[in-house]
Amino acid sequence: MQEVTTITRLRAAVDEYRRTGATVGLVPTMGALHEGHLELVRRCATESDVTVVSIFVNPTQFDRADDLAAYPRDLDGDRAALRGMDDTTPDLLYVPSTEQMYPSGDPVVRVSVGGGLTDRLCGRSRPGHFDGVATVVTKLLNQVAPDLAVFGRKDRQQLQIIRRLVTDLDLAVRVVGVPTVRETDALAISSRNRRLSPTEREQATVLARALASAVAVARQARRTGGVLPLEALHRALAAPFDEMPEVRVDYLEVVAPDTMAPPDAAELAPDTRLIVAVAAEVGPVRLIDNVELGDLDDEDRLLEAVR
Ligand code: PAJ
Repeated sequence: MQEVTTITRLRAAVDEYRRTGATVGLVPTMGALHEGHLELVRRCATESDVTVVSIFVNPTQFDRADDLAAYPRDLDGDRAALRGMDDTTPDLLYVPSTEQMYPSGDPVVRVSVGGGLTDRLCGRSRPGHFDGVATVVTKLLNQVAPDLAVFGRKDRQQLQIIRRLVTDLDLAVRVVGVPTVRETDALAISSRNRRLSPTEREQATVLARALASAVAVARQARRTGGVLPLEALHRALAAPFDEMPEVRVDYLEVVAPDTMAPPDAAELAPDTRLIVAVAAEVGPVRLIDNVELGDLDDEDRLLEAVR
């Protein structure tokens, strides 16, 4: 695994791979790598000849300075985790400094994601966050110029925004979305999980359980050939939180995958694709999770983990 910190060296290394005819995949991360990130790296290795992992804690996507300062950083641990992947160890690790990424400080030109895609869900409580994500992802894609870029479905709104970014700006890259990797008790893996106390850790399982209840409602509707009752979906999603008052709900939403906005109709065909998404604060930590109804693989993975 070669490591580079500048755009010049990054481009020289990627050019060398390209000369051999290799395809290149990029896995953008902010480090503090865990099993979820490693799954993205494995997927990238199956779909491209060369894997590039970037680690950059992007200041422009944090709306609060204390949040940026508190973000976990462990470059030595990250290197060790990547080296430990044996045959899927990335070829190239790109770790730019903030000065390398933003040489003139705050960028004057930013990628701004409009309308509905950022109004709702995580966009509501984190103004400017997704513009920061879109800006840094555009820069990373321009720097590496990969054939494909791999993102997690855990951050479903982010994934959708990046898909739209690539479509709307005609970027020549294929976006791959990887299913959410979960702990044995179904909690979606996140670097924030380690800040939970044992009690909070147990309370945190309510997110995945709530999503599983929504899946059960959708499956019931499919079995009986009925419509997908949005009201009942919302009730099933909310009920587990009523019994867990320690967990503070930020949002519980059912939205269309391409717009991230609520579906127009009150009653839908039972196989309609819908994202059920939750965000909640448990102790000091804000957690998010989601499932895509109508994506049987995604539903199965969640139910299997909750069981
Ligand atoms: P970060 O939070 O480090 O996540 C990097 C990638 O790992 C994202 O695509 C995220 O969706 C994915 N990921 C995290 N936890 C996962 C899990 N449990 N299962 C599957 N995938 C998971 O997301 C970012 O960084 C940044 O916003 C970034 C895209 C790098 C731009 O700065």
